Amino acid sequence: MLLKGKKALVTGSSRGIGKEVVKRFLQEDCSVWGVCSKLSASKEELETVAKEYGSSFVELYGNATDNESWTSVIKEAMNQSGGFDILVNNAGITKDTLSFRMKIEDWSNVIQVNLTSAFLACQIVSGDMIKKRSGSIINMSSIVGIHGQAGQTNYAASKAGLIGLTKSLAKETGSRGVRVNAIAPGFIQTDMTDVLPEALKQSMIEGVPMKRVGVVTDVANAAVFLASDLSTYITGQVLGVDGGMGC
Ligand SMILES: NC(=O)c1ccc[n+]([C@@H]2O[C@H](COP(=O)([O-])OP(=O)(O)OC[C@H]3O[C@@H](n4cnc5c(N)ncnc54)[C@H](OP(=O)(O)O)[C@@H]3O)[C@@H](O)[C@H]2O)c1
Repeated sequence: MLLKGKKALVTGSSRGIGKEVVKRFLQEDCSVWGVCSKLSASKEELETVAKEYGSSFVELYGNATDNESWTSVIKEAMNQSGGFDILVNNAGITKDTLSFRMKIEDWSNVIQVNLTSAFLACQIVSGDMIKKRSGSIINMSSIVGIHGQAGQTNYAASKAGLIGLTKSLAKETGSRGVRVNAIAPGFIQTDMTDVLPEALKQSMIEGVPMKRVGVVTDVANAAVFLASDLSTYITGQVLGVDGGMGC
């Protein structure tokens, strides 16, 4: 059990990558608090996994578009848990269009949900980690934050911002025993990518050296590694989980 006795906060826990991160953490005997915007279809399933593995799962609700709602749910999770060993900033959205057509609201909304909410969670959770001289923070960036993508200036900026946040916070907290890393997934099959046109999906798969789309477990296993004591000398890094797309 790689995360035995640890407590984790995972944002965007209701679907896709976040849900699988929760599931893998529960299987490693970690108690997990998940945050999403509303009651999720996966709550019962995750509670069942928790029971099966003797761990626990609590789902809490907050809206990452609203700083007050977000701050309040993260603080509530802190109060309930007594502090976290692991924070995974995973909540994210896309609002894609070419930059000359992009409305400022769509720019701001993506930066708010993908980047500002992660900063706020880091701020609230890391203070206690610093006091305890221990903790692992994982920010869900993207290959797009490294290489860019036409039609995703807002999303790419938010994901590049997460890398800057990761590296800077790693420098601030390293001497206090807190590690901060990012994961940069490539093309992973979830609700977020299901909406893409079939032809685009096929051409993206062609560009993957491993010639397949990633699955949520590929990313969740990387999160287990970065959250666990298998990675105790790793901080400030961006771990690509992309079938070789970024190499
Ligand atoms: N899929 C990919 O190929 C891929 C590639 C690179 C990076 N990523 C990143 O990985 C993360 C997860 O992606 P995914 O594909 O699993 O996405 P997804 O299936 O669309 O799930 C997004 C999650 O974020 C939560 N969320 C969205 N807006 C929120 C808000 N305003 N307040 C609170 N929670 C909110 C959702 O909760 P609700 O159910 O409550 O809306 C959901 O749990 C994202 O940060 C994404 O950018 C994904």
